[in-house]
Amino acid sequence: MQSKLPHIGTSIFTVMSQLAVQHKAINLGQGFPDFPMSAQLIECVHQAMKDGSNQYAHTYGVPLLRERLAEKIRYLYQTNIHPDTEITVTPGGTYAIFSAFSTIIQPGDEVIIFEPAYDSYIPNITFNGGIVVPIELEFPTYSIPWEKVKAAITPKTKAILVNTPHNPTGRVFTKEDILQLQDIVLQHHLYLISDEVYEHLIYDDKQHETVMKYPDLFARSFVCFSFGKTYHCTGWKLGYCVAPEALMKEYRKIHQFNAFSCDTPKQIGIANYMTHQEAYLNIGLMYQEKRDLLRDLLKDTPLVRIPSSGSYFESYRYDSISNESDKVFAEKLVKEYGIATIPMSAFYMNGTDHKVIRLCFAKKTETLEAAAACLQKLHA
Ligand SMILES: Cc1ncc(COP(=O)(O)O)c(C=O)c1O
Repeated sequence: MQSKLPHIGTSIFTVMSQLAVQHKAINLGQGFPDFPMSAQLIECVHQAMKDGSNQYAHTYGVPLLRERLAEKIRYLYQTNIHPDTEITVTPGGTYAIFSAFSTIIQPGDEVIIFEPAYDSYIPNITFNGGIVVPIELEFPTYSIPWEKVKAAITPKTKAILVNTPHNPTGRVFTKEDILQLQDIVLQHHLYLISDEVYEHLIYDDKQHETVMKYPDLFARSFVCFSFGKTYHCTGWKLGYCVAPEALMKEYRKIHQFNAFSCDTPKQIGIANYMTHQEAYLNIGLMYQEKRDLLRDLLKDTPLVRIPSSGSYFESYRYDSISNESDKVFAEKLVKEYGIATIPMSAFYMNGTDHKVIRLCFAKKTETLEAAAACLQKLHA
């Protein structure tokens, strides 16, 4: 059979997680919390099941959930989103993004992405017949080189994908970033896919710059979210996309014949639980404490952090102690030091290697302490 994705192999997350199991290593590689989610939210889902809500949900998502999401967006971002026409619940954030690409890409369209990049974007674009135009973020600040973005636009450019807070670097958009983005999108009549799955995981008093706050930009955007990140249940694979009605109409044509609808009891459970605003309002502080704990534990190691202001992740340079490639270094960490991380080059199409590893701090204190004990054995 002719492969539709000939260049795609096993993802680095699978490789590192398998190595972690094989070597009984502590896993700070893949991004998922190792602490329990809310028992109350589980109870809300259980209740929905016991109440008999176990059949297909509305194809756009349980209406109460869409209403609650619209209320939340109004409360947090002072933006009116119509729950009937502008929100679609999806089986996870990745699916929400994939469907946005499928909605807009015609064969030969160019899509600009920034590297390092979350691993699903490139295969999503290629699979839909698009051409990936990668632009590297400035190293080591990981800021966006806006002049390079302008220079990369051609008559074939169809869309830009942005991600804030950013996986893998933890960088968050400034207002200046979003205004630059808006100018480019509007001037060249592009579409925007905005991956905002880490909207609440933002630190140091920074504010999340959602595209939804900018009406002209939002008019050309698909904004994607994940309940998994917000409620510490990545295994539930539930998310949603917010887009203006005209775009959402086309998006729903794709969704209707793909997933059609999502897990009913979980949607009802989350809708009922969403009245607990503190559940999402407090997580920024909770994760910031974890980030700071890891920082503190690693401060006497030769690893040099590249500051993160958001997401589950912080990156560290190891170039003061090794010239090895980041993949070789990460493998050595698993096999000899008992800790799994992700080599940053895995997030670049051409394997750009700045000798950086990504650590996930969405872990219990014990896990972070045990991980740090492994890394403290590294010597200059
Ligand atoms: C940047 C980014 N976007 C999207 C996703 C996917 O979210 P979900 O698990 O809801 O599909 C992730 C998950 O790791 C992510 O890091």
